[in-house]
Amino acid sequence: ATLYAVVPAAGVGKRMGGALPKQYLPLHGRPILSHTLSCLLSHPRVAQVIVAVGPDDEYFSDLPEAADPRLTRVTGGAERADSVRLALQAVAAEDAWALVHDAARPCLRHEDIDRLLAQCGEQGAILASPVRDTMKRAGGDGCIDHTVERAQLWHALTPQLFPAGALHRALCEAEQQGASITDEASAMERQGWQPRLVSGRPDNIKVTHPDDLRLAQLFLA
Ligand code: CTP
Ligand code: MG
Repeated sequence: ATLYAVVPAAGVGKRMGGALPKQYLPLHGRPILSHTLSCLLSHPRVAQVIVAVGPDDEYFSDLPEAADPRLTRVTGGAERADSVRLALQAVAAEDAWALVHDAARPCLRHEDIDRLLAQCGEQGAILASPVRDTMKRAGGDGCIDHTVERAQLWHALTPQLFPAGALHRALCEAEQQGASITDEASAMERQGWQPRLVSGRPDNIKVTHPDDLRLAQLFLA
């Protein structure tokens, strides 16, 4: 099957603050999105990359990767799930699979993609990391209501891998039903799919807050 990488990069980075959207902040001398795209474009199994950028994006075309003929730029939407749904419309191949990866996760490595591809079943798969800390559910008053069993809890990371057509239909249906979707797997779970959890490296972080930039700097060094 043809493998498309789909990269939601249309966020404004509100939690990061600042005027420049976080995917364009420099990390070791080039924008975060450049690290993300070069990892995907250089993977031997990735045939095409579709990037969803904001409607007024003035930075994307300056990336060294923007000129790659295997890269398609589309305009994203209001929420991350809208950006992924719109990007999937640009998938041409009937039998395509989509590897959806956040622009804001520049520490991705080929070994992550390899592990996900190797362990993916028919129901799709996501990279995830087991929760390390003891988990508490808060009561209404800011005090602990109870301790949540940790053994079965995972952090959902990206990439997440699904048949492109089925994922597109799942995201369209979730949108029509007004369901809030924060990752691809949750859209598929609503359809009764049981995606596999594949152990990812915990340093495949999403750059969300200013502190994460320093961490990403270390992980990429
Ligand atoms: N994203 C997107 N379209 C949106 C919102 C987010 O393509 N409407 C992308 C972001 O660019 C990012 C990824 O989805 O690569 C993960 O989202 P997040 O970390 O929440 O990024 P932002 O939405 O930009 O940050 P914030 O929520 O702090 O504003
Ligand atoms: Mg966001």
